[in-house]
Parts: sequence; C-alpha cells; structure tokens
Amino acid sequence: MDWADGAVRWIDQRRLPHRFEQVESRDPEDVARAIETMAVRGAPSIGAAAAFGLALAWRVDRARFESHWLPRFRATRPTAVNLFHACDAMAEAASGAGAGDAGMLDAAQAWADAEVEANRRMGECLAGLLAVGQRRILTHCNAGWLAAVDWGTALSGVYQLARAGERPFVWVDETRPRLQGARLTAWELGQEGVDCRIQADGAAAWRMALGEVDAVVVGADRIAANGDVANKIGTYALSLAARAHGVPFYVAAPTSTLDAACASGADIVVEEREADEVLMMDGMDEDGVWRRIRVAAPGADAVNPAFDVTPAANVTAVVTENGVWRSG
Ligand code: MRU
Repeated sequence: MDWADGAVRWIDQRRLPHRFEQVESRDPEDVARAIETMAVRGAPSIGAAAAFGLALAWRVDRARFESHWLPRFRATRPTAVNLFHACDAMAEAASGAGAGDAGMLDAAQAWADAEVEANRRMGECLAGLLAVGQRRILTHCNAGWLAAVDWGTALSGVYQLARAGERPFVWVDETRPRLQGARLTAWELGQEGVDCRIQADGAAAWRMALGEVDAVVVGADRIAANGDVANKIGTYALSLAARAHGVPFYVAAPTSTLDAACASGADIVVEEREADEVLMMDGMDEDGVWRRIRVAAPGADAVNPAFDVTPAANVTAVVTENGVWRSG
C-alpha cells in the first residue's frame, strides 16, 4: 500500500497466493471499494489505504471531501478502529493550515510510516517475549506485512526472530471462511523462509492439547479500554483453548488499534459479511483457471460474523510499540 506518481497502489490480496497483482488508481472510489471487497485488508493496511484514498479525494474532488469522502471511507468496514483513526487524522490535516495537495499526501504518508514503525518496534517487544523458549507459535488469520503495510503485527515478532537467525515455527490456522491463514499467512511465511504448517481451524485446540504450541500470537482489529480484543472470527475459541491448556495468548497491535472511547467489547461493532463467503469457495484449479464453486448443501443458508471478541481475562499480554501490557 503506497503512493506512486499521483496514484494509490496496492496488492490485490484476493488473488494471492496464486497471482501477485498490483493495482493503481487515481479514483478514490476504487480505493474505498478495495477496502470493502477486501482486496486490501488487515487493520493497519486498511487505515493506511483510507489515508491515501482521502489524500487522493482531496486532490480530485476537494469540494466533497467532508460531505462525501470522509463518510464514504468510514463506511467501508466497521470493526477495525485503525480505519477510523486514519480518517480522523486526515480530517484534521484537511482543516489545518498546510492543507494543500502536498500537505495531505504528507499526512497520509506520515500515517502509513507511523504504522510501519510501530509494527517494527512492537515486533522487537514480541520477539523478546518469544525468546524465552516459545518458538512454536500458533497464529490465526493474516497478521503479517500484507495486513499492516510492512512487518505485520503478530508476525512482526516472528520475522524479527527469523532475521536474527532464530528458527521460529508457525502453526497457521487456515481461517475459514476467507482462508487468510492458508492463502496469505502461509504464503508470506514462505517468502520469509519461516517453517510453517497449515491446519484446519478445528485442529488448533487439539494441537495445544498435544503440547505442540508454545504461544498463540494474534493481531487485533480493535482493543477496548478494558482490554477486550476484537479479532478475526475464531480468535475467541483459540483463547479458550489456550487458557484451558496453559498456553500464553498474546495479542500484538499498534496503539492505533486501541479504542479508548470503547469501554468494553460489548460496544464493538462486529462486521457481518455475506453468507456466500461461507457457502462458496474460490481458488485456482489444477489447470490454472480461477473458479468459484458451491461447497454447502444447495438451498442452505449461513451466517458469517467476520470477527469475535476475546475477553481481556483470556489475554496473557497485549504487545504494542510501547511495550508489553499484561492483562489476563
Ligand atoms: O477481515 P480481515 O482479513 O481484514 O481481518 C484481519 C484480522 O482479523 C487481523 O487479525 C487484524 O486485522 C489484525 S492484524 C493486522
């Protein structure tokens, strides 16, 4: 996710790992749709996308910046608070003295750079925690550089260990229904040379029961003031299993994911996505053709909450760029 020659540029994550496609656009509506359709996804990445999209909106349609574009970007996805914090930062930049095209681009770039630096520092803290013999890590969804502009949240610590010559190992939950783990995390870890195995989400508790997980590390989309954590659906179940088996459960998130205005998890809006994400599957067949097939019983309907809330009591520690906060 970056800015190149007057356009916003992103990787279309829906086609990974089969196709690496970069998209460039000078139309802010394309950027908003990229967030909605999850071509760009992951809390820090969608915040940065909104910041760059709003810098573009300022350039091409300044008259409607407040009336149309700010609400448009705020409506793209409801749960990750980074998106709303990025929109607030851009609204503030727009009302400031230096609000020219260059000033707005600088504000968007500063937002993205701050996320990357926060994730790098958070990774250092996490690597320090994991250094005490917790090298078999279980993660859920994708909380790597695709999700966070660079470095990642949960995976930042893993990458820092690997770059320091350590040999972390990652159990990758496939992460139904959109398979961010199987598609994106496994691909990213492969690019970084980190050993991993994909497992069905339902295998995670059993893996802990077998004593093969030293720590669970996940990212977050919003952390309430009381420490409750919204993250990808399935995270709550992982926290229960981790607690039952005495496995540390770490949440890695930059401070842009903290929501002081949200008293507890009960106030977090959990996104409901379309049933087809559960009923259908898409991917590449053996002949390299992209296909979409129905896997569920014909006529059956489905529910599809995209996130859940893990109570603070189940979280061993939250790791941010400012250090480790022990909660549960
Ligand atoms: O629906 P997604 O794929 O955007 O959900 C992403 C997650 O739940 C991540 O774990 C979260 O954003 C934190 S890590 C960047």
